[in-house]
Amino acid sequence: MKFFLDTAEIDEIREMAATGLVDGVTTNPSLILKSGRDYFEVTKEICDLIDGPVSAEVAATDYDGMLREAAHIYDIADNIALKVPLTVDGLRACKHFTDQGKMVNVTLCFSSAQALLAAKAGATFISPFVGRHDDVGFDGMQLIEDIRLIYDNYQFATQILVASTRHPIHIVESARIGADVVTLPAKVLRQMFNHPLTANGLAAFVSDWEKTGQTIAK
Ligand code: E4P
Repeated sequence: MKFFLDTAEIDEIREMAATGLVDGVTTNPSLILKSGRDYFEVTKEICDLIDGPVSAEVAATDYDGMLREAAHIYDIADNIALKVPLTVDGLRACKHFTDQGKMVNVTLCFSSAQALLAAKAGATFISPFVGRHDDVGFDGMQLIEDIRLIYDNYQFATQILVASTRHPIHIVESARIGADVVTLPAKVLRQMFNHPLTANGLAAFVSDWEKTGQTIAK
């Protein structure tokens, strides 16, 4: 399972990339706004830091506008995955670019029907938003299960990229279902390391080791 970092904060990306666990990055207009940075500058810096796919979203909502913007966005780096919304125009743009062998991430997916359309449009990634689904009283993880079943039925190559994750359970459930990718905020990745028994056990080992009076690296 691949881990993408869901942020446009360079310091966070640098810190988490150092763990060796980050396979890519996803951004969106809200994350760019939060970063306070210029879209092209920050996206280029992310692409230089991360070898894997970096999702950068179009702002246009019409097909011609998306194509015009995409020419500039793909120019940023070879590891750009163009992010387009799950609309008629977005899927037209998706097909246009995946037919040329370029990576496309179809975002704002909230139903299996939409995921089926994205796969038929050749999407590299489909991004179902589990947290936002949970927020309105639907079971976000059920959607992931349904998409996995549908994609497996027809051997669609589109990778399920679980987005809008809010806590480690979203990540573990995605792994149980067999999602290909999760994108997670740095906070959730940090939370995944934590267990009170690990912290307590380590404190006891450190204290007992000090009592031995020995050193390992001389
Ligand atoms: C990533 O591709 C999505 O844009 C992101 O995960 C959405 O997360 P949110 O629902 O927390 O804004």
